[in-house]
Amino acid sequence: MRHGMVSEIRWVVCILALASMTGSAFADPRVATTRKDLYLFGSQPTTPDEIDFEFLREADVCAACHGDYTESQSPYERWRYTMMAQAYRDPIFQAAFQIANKDIGNAGEFCLRCHAPMGWFQGRATATDGSSLDPLDYEGVSCSICHRAVDPDYKPGISPSVDQDVLAALGFDRPPQAGQGGPLANGHMVIDNLDRRRGPFDLGQFFFHEFLQSNFHVTSDVCAACHDVSNPAYTKSVSGGGQVTYTLGSLDSKHPTGNKYDMFPVERLYSEWAASSFATGAVTQTIPDGLGGFVGRYGGNGMTAYSSCQDCHMPPVQGTGCAPFLGSPVRPNVPQHNFAGANTWVLKSINDLYPPEESRLEDPAMINAAIGRAVTMLQLASDTELKVIGDNLRVRVINETGHKLPSGYAEGRRVWINVKFFDASSNLINERGAYDSATGTLTTSNTKVYEQKQGLDSAASILSGLPTGEGFHFALNNVILKDNRIPPRGFSNAAFAAVQAEPVQATYADGQYWDDTYFVIPPGTASTQVNVYHQTSTKEYIEFLRDNADNPILPGDLVQPPANSNATTLGDLVHEQWVKWGRSTPTLMDTAATLARACKPDLGQQGGLLGADGLLNNNDFIVFIDLFFTQSPLADFGSQGGVAGSDGVLNNNDFIAYIDAYFAACP
Ligand code: HEC
Ligand code: HEC
Ligand code: HEC
Ligand code: HEC
Ligand code: HEC
Repeated sequence: MRHGMVSEIRWVVCILALASMTGSAFADPRVATTRKDLYLFGSQPTTPDEIDFEFLREADVCAACHGDYTESQSPYERWRYTMMAQAYRDPIFQAAFQIANKDIGNAGEFCLRCHAPMGWFQGRATATDGSSLDPLDYEGVSCSICHRAVDPDYKPGISPSVDQDVLAALGFDRPPQAGQGGPLANGHMVIDNLDRRRGPFDLGQFFFHEFLQSNFHVTSDVCAACHDVSNPAYTKSVSGGGQVTYTLGSLDSKHPTGNKYDMFPVERLYSEWAASSFATGAVTQTIPDGLGGFVGRYGGNGMTAYSSCQDCHMPPVQGTGCAPFLGSPVRPNVPQHNFAGANTWVLKSINDLYPPEESRLEDPAMINAAIGRAVTMLQLASDTELKVIGDNLRVRVINETGHKLPSGYAEGRRVWINVKFFDASSNLINERGAYDSATGTLTTSNTKVYEQKQGLDSAASILSGLPTGEGFHFALNNVILKDNRIPPRGFSNAAFAAVQAEPVQATYADGQYWDDTYFVIPPGTASTQVNVYHQTSTKEYIEFLRDNADNPILPGDLVQPPANSNATTLGDLVHEQWVKWGRSTPTLMDTAATLARACKPDLGQQGGLLGADGLLNNNDFIVFIDLFFTQSPLADFGSQGGVAGSDGVLNNNDFIAYIDAYFAACP
C-alpha cells in the first residue's frame, strides 16, 4: 500500500511539473490507449525504495573494472559506442517516440521498456514522454539489463536454480511458457531482483561481485525479449476465409492472451532467426583470406561456423573480460561487445547533439571504428552473383545473415540493386536503381528494392483519423503491405507464417535464401556493373519524422539543437542532422561486373575495329581473337563446357561459346 501511495504521489508531481514545462506533451493522442492496453508480461516497474529490489547499476560502476584496457576486449569500451548504449539518446528514436505519443496514449509504457529499460524497470518511466527519467537512464540497454536477465522459460538442470524463485515472485506477471510465446518473449523481460551478474563463465571462488554462470547468456534467447517487437494494443483474428486482421479491442484492457504471436508483428528478427537453420546448428560460413585460404566470415577466434546472435554480433577474441591488473584470466573466448548492425550514421549525430561526457562517445576515432564495424557487417551480409542468360542479366543476391536481409527495424531501412550498362567505349547507356546523393532520391520504379512496408487498414484509419495504406505511424500500423526481404538459410513458408514473418507481395520457395532479378540488357551493351546498396534511413522516413515530430523544442527538452542549427522542432533537427551526415550515405554491400556478351557475337566493324555494326562477318572474328590475345575480359564468352556465360577465365570454352553464338546468329 505504502509503495503504491508513494508512486501515486510521484505521478501527480510529475504531471504537474510536466504540464507547466511542456504543454503539448499531453495533447490528446489519436487513440486513447492506457498502460493496460500496452501491458506485457515479465518484470514490472519496481519502485526504487522496495527493499527486495537491488538497484540496477549504471555502466560507470562496471567501467571501473571492465573498462579502460585493451579496447577490443573490454566490454565497456566497445559497448559505449553501440546503438544499444545510445538507444534512448538516438534522435531518430526520440522523433519516432514523440510521434508515437501523439498517436497512442501512454506510448512510453511500450517504447521505454526497451529503449530506456534502466528507468522503466526502476519505476521512473511514469511520464510517458520520458521526462520523468533520471539522466542515468539515458544509457539505454545497459550492462545490468543484459547481465541481470533471467530466462523466462526455466530449464531444470540448466538454468541457475535461483531462477525458480525469481520467476515465482512474478506471480501473474509470469510470461506464458514454451510454445506460448514464453522463451520467445516480446519485451517480456525478467530481471533478477538481486544484483547477481550472469554470464557465460564459472568464475569459481570469486570476490568482486555476485555472479551466476548462465547458459541463457550464450544462447540467442537472451536477445529475444527485445528483438521481436509486437504491439499489444492489437489482437490478431482470423476470418473464416483465413484472412488475418489486427484489431484494437476495447480500450483499457490487457491483451487477451499476452502471446506475442497474437499481437501485431512490428519486428520479427528473433523469430526469423529461430525459424532459420542457424537455430538448429552452426552453419559453416567462410570467406577468402586473401592468401589462398579461408577464414570465418564474421571473425571470432578460430571460428568458421555460426549459430547464435552472439556468434556473429559478439565474435570472441583471446583476452581478458576484465582489466588484467585485477588478475582476470586470459580466455580464448572473450565475447566482444560489438553489437554492430545496420546503423552507419546515427552515432555521429548523437555525438553532435550531446556533450561527450554525457553520451560517453568521447573518442571520435572509436565512433568511426564502430561505424566501420557496421559497414563491414553490411558488406559481409550478402553475396551477389551475375549471369547472362540470353538477353537478360540475372542478378542473384544471397542472404548470408542469420535473419532476413535486411531485417529488424523496417522503417527507413532498404537494400537495392543498382545496374549500369556500358557500351564498348565505356559510355553509360542505361542505369537502373539510380541514387541521387545530392537529394537522397532513389529511382525505385526500374529496379528491385528489398524492404518491408507497414501501414493502416480501414478500421485503424477510422479510429485514428489517419489515411489508410502505407505509412510510418509505428504505434498504429496494423497491416504489412510489402515484405520482399530475403529470407535466411532454412526458410520455409509454413514456419515463417507461423511467426507472422511470411513474405508479402513476394514469393520465396521453401529453402530459398537468395533472390533473382532479371534485367533486359539494352542493345549495344558491352559490359555491366552491378552494385548492391544498403541505406539505414531513407529520405521518405526522415521527411516523415521532419513533418510529424513537430513539437517546438523547449529549453528543458533532452535533444537540443547544436549552436549552428536553425531547427525549431525535433523533426527539423533530425532532418538537418540527416543532411549534415551525408543523408545516410548508402553502403556498398557488393559489387560485381560482367560482360553482357554471352550471346552478342557482333563485336567488330569495318576493318576489324571494336564495335557492333549489325553484321556478322570476318571483322567479328578478327576482333574476338584480338580481344582474346590481349586478355580482354570482353572475350570471356564461355564457362565450363563451352556454355555461354562469363566465368572470369579465358580459355577454349570461350572459343567454343563464341563460335556457337556466331553460327546461331545470336542477336
Ligand atoms: C571491482 C571490479 C569489478 C567491477 C566493479 C565489476 N566487475 Fe564484473 N567482473 C570482474 C572480474 C575480475 C570478472 C572476471 C572476469 C573473467 O574471469 O573473465 C568479472 C566478471 C563479470 C561477468 C562474467 C560472469 C560470468 O559468470 O561469466 C559479468 C557478467 C560481469 N562481471 C558483469 C559486471 C557488471 C554488469 C558490472 C557493473 C554493474 C561489473 N561486472 C562490475 C570484476 C568487476
Ligand atoms: C550468421 C550471422 C548472423 C547471425 C546468426 C545473426 N545476425 Fe544479425 N546481422 C548479421 C549481419 C551480417 C547484419 C547486417 C545486415 C543487416 O542489417 O541485415 C545483421 C544485422 C542485424 C541487426 C540490424 C538490423 C537493422 O536493419 O537494423 C540486428 C538488430 C541484428 N542483426 C540482431 C541479431 C540478433 C538479435 C540475432 C539472433 C537472434 C542475430 N542478429 C543473428 C549477421 C547475423
Ligand atoms: C545486449 C546485452 C549485453 C549488454 C548491453 C552487455 N553485455 Fe556483457 N555479455 C552479453 C552476453 C550475451 C555475453 C556472453 C556472450 C557469449 O558468451 O557468447 C556477455 C559477456 C560478458 C562478460 C564475460 C566476459 C568475461 O571474460 O568474463 C562480461 C565481463 C561482460 N559481458 C560485461 C559487460 C559489461 C561491463 C557491460 C556494459 C559495459 C556489458 N557486458 C553489456 C550481453 C551483454
Ligand atoms: C532490453 C532490450 C534489448 C536486448 C535484451 C537486446 N537488445 Fe539489441 N537493441 C535494442 C534496441 C532498443 C536497439 C536499437 C537502438 C537504436 O537504434 O536506437 C538495439 C540495437 C541492436 C543492434 C544494432 C542495430 C542497428 O540498427 O545497427 C544490434 C546488432 C543488436 N541490438 C544486437 C543484440 C543482440 C545480439 C542481443 C542479445 C545478446 C541484443 N541486441 C539484446 C534492445 C535490446
Ligand atoms: C520489445 C522492445 C522494443 C519496443 C517495445 C520498442 N522498440 Fe524500438 N527498437 C527495438 C529494437 C530491438 C530496435 C533495433 C532494431 C534493429 O535495428 O533491427 C529498435 C529500433 C528502433 C528505432 C530505429 C532507430 C534508428 O536509429 O534507426 C526507432 C526509431 C524505434 N525503435 C522507435 C520505437 C518507438 C517509437 C517505440 C514505441 C512505440 C519502440 N521503438 C518500441 C526494440 C523495441
